[in-house]
Amino acid sequence: MQKTTKHKLTLAVLAVSLLASSLFLGCAGGQLGKNNSGEYRNGMVVSASELASQVGVDILKKGGNAVDAAVAVQFALAVVYPNAGNIGGGGFMVYRSAKGESNTLDFREKAAAGAGRDMYLDATGNPIVDKSLYGQLAAGVPGSVAGMAEAHQKYGRLKWEELLAPAVRLAGSGFKLTARQARELNGLKARFKKLNPLGTALVKETTWTEGDVLVQTELSNTLKQIKEKGRNGFYEGAVADSIVAEMQRGGGIISKQDLANYKAVWRKPVTGNYRGYEVITMPPPSSGGIALVQLLKSVEPYPLQRWGFNSDSTVQLMVEAERRVYADRAAHLGDPDFYPVPQNKLIEDAYIKQRMSTFNWQKASTSAEINAGEIAPTEHEETTHFSIVDRDGNAVSITTTLNGSYGAAVVVKGAGFLLNNEMDDFSVKPGAPNMYGLVGGEANAIAPGKRMLSSMTPAILAKDGQLFMVVGTPGGSTIITSVFQTILNVIDFNQSMQSAVNAKKIHHQWLPDQVDVEEKALDSLTTVKLKAKGYKIVPRGPIGRVDAILKTKWGYYQGGADPRGDDKAIGW
Ligand code: DON
Repeated sequence: MQKTTKHKLTLAVLAVSLLASSLFLGCAGGQLGKNNSGEYRNGMVVSASELASQVGVDILKKGGNAVDAAVAVQFALAVVYPNAGNIGGGGFMVYRSAKGESNTLDFREKAAAGAGRDMYLDATGNPIVDKSLYGQLAAGVPGSVAGMAEAHQKYGRLKWEELLAPAVRLAGSGFKLTARQARELNGLKARFKKLNPLGTALVKETTWTEGDVLVQTELSNTLKQIKEKGRNGFYEGAVADSIVAEMQRGGGIISKQDLANYKAVWRKPVTGNYRGYEVITMPPPSSGGIALVQLLKSVEPYPLQRWGFNSDSTVQLMVEAERRVYADRAAHLGDPDFYPVPQNKLIEDAYIKQRMSTFNWQKASTSAEINAGEIAPTEHEETTHFSIVDRDGNAVSITTTLNGSYGAAVVVKGAGFLLNNEMDDFSVKPGAPNMYGLVGGEANAIAPGKRMLSSMTPAILAKDGQLFMVVGTPGGSTIITSVFQTILNVIDFNQSMQSAVNAKKIHHQWLPDQVDVEEKALDSLTTVKLKAKGYKIVPRGPIGRVDAILKTKWGYYQGGADPRGDDKAIGW
C-alpha cells in the first residue's frame, strides 16, 4: 500500500471514530452520554427529589445496576422526601432486565395479627374515619426494608452497605428543605405535635423556611442498623423494640412477631398488549395492573389519535372505560393470598368487549348507587414513584407509600421514621369510602396478615423486545388513570415523555359519579358537550405526579419529571 493511501486511511478511521465518540459523548456541554435534546444514553433516574435522583445516578455511575440504584433511591427518599419516601411503609417494584425477563416484588404492608374486620367501626357499626388514618393503630406492618433487601439479594450488584451510605449521610448531616417541603411541614405542625408528644425532628418551634437544614439523627441511626444488619436491623433488635414501644404508647397493635414474620413476595407480573406494546405491571394486591390493562384494552378498538387528545369523544370513552373498571375494582380485587381474585377473567378480551358494549354515545352511563356518602380527599395525598434505567438497559419502576402525606403522622420515637396509615386502604366497612373515595367489600375486608388493596401502578412497556417506557405515579385512586393517560399521550398522541407527564389529566372512578378535571384539561366547548350528555364535570387541583422514562428509537433516554412537584430527571 502506498504511503499516502495509508495516511488517508488512517485519517478516515480517525475521523470516523471521532464522529462516533462525539455522537456518543454528545455535543451539549460535552457531558457524558447526553445529546442536544437533553436525552441520555447511559441511564436515568426520575424521582420526586433532586437529591434522591442524584443518589441513584451516582450509584449507576459507580457500576451499580438499576436495582442497586433503586435501593439507594428508596432509602434516600425516606430521608429527603419524608412525606412519602419511607422505611415505615411499603410498595411495589416492577423489574425488566435488559434481556427482557420481568418480575414484580410485592412489599406492601400487612394487617397485624391482632387486626380484625371491624377494628375501625364504632359501637353502632359506623366507620370512625380518623382511626384508620392517624396514630399507631392506622399502621400496617411495614414492608419497604424487607422489599429492598429482597430486591438486592436477587438482582443487586454493589454491596448493600454502599447503597445505604447516602441515606445515612443525608439523615445525619441533614439536607436543605425545598419551599414546598417547608410549607408542608409547617402546615402539619399541630398534627405532628399532637401525635408525637415526645418530640420529632420534623417539628420546629419557629417556622421552617426554604433552605433550612433538616437533620434526622434518630433516622440516621436506624438506617445505620439497616446498613449493618440488613433486614434484621429493622425487623429485629433495637428498631423493632422502638416500633413495639411506639405501638404500646399509642394503642397500636403491631407486635415483634408481626415484624419478624413480614416477608416481601415475588409475584408474576400482569401483562397485556396495547397497540403492539407489551405492558408489564403489578398484580394484586395492587388493583393498578389489572385496571391499567383493562383500561388500555377497553379503548384499543377506538381511533383515539384521530379524535385527538382530550377531545369530547376521547374523554367520554376514557370515562366510560374507567367507570366499568373501577366498579370491578370495588367488587373483585383484594389480596390474592386471601381472596380468589378473578385475575385472568378480568383482562380477557371477550370480557372487556362485553363490558364496553353497554354504553351509549349519546348519553352518560350512571354509576350504580350504593349506601355510602361521598368523601372528597380531605388533604394532600402522598405516595411517590421513581423510574430507573441503567447502562445495560435493565429497568425498575417502583411506587412506594405511607398512604396519606406523612402517613399516620407518628414518628417512631427513638427510630426516627414515620409510620404508614395504610390500614385505610382496606374496606373498613362494605361500601364505606376510604380517604380516596374508593369503596370495596368482602375482597378487601380486613383480616390478620392480609395486604390492603392498592391502586399503585408501577409499569414498564416494551416494544419488539426492547425497553420502551418506565412509568408510574402517586395519587391514590388517580394513580391508575394518570398512568393510563400518560401511556395514551405517548402512544396515541405522539407526545414526548415530558409533555405526556405535563399534560393535564382527568379522572373518573365509578363512585362518586363525577368526572374530576384538572384545571385547563378540557376546553370550554368540550366541557359543554360532555355536560350536555349528562357528565358531571368537577374541577380539581393537580392530578398525579408522574415520573417516567422513555427510550427513543435512537437509544437515548428521555425523562419526564412531573412539574406538579419538585421532581427531577437526572441522566448520564
Ligand atoms: O396504595 C394505594 O393505592 C394508596 N395507599 C396510595 C396513596 C397515594 O397514592 C397517595 N398519594 N398521592
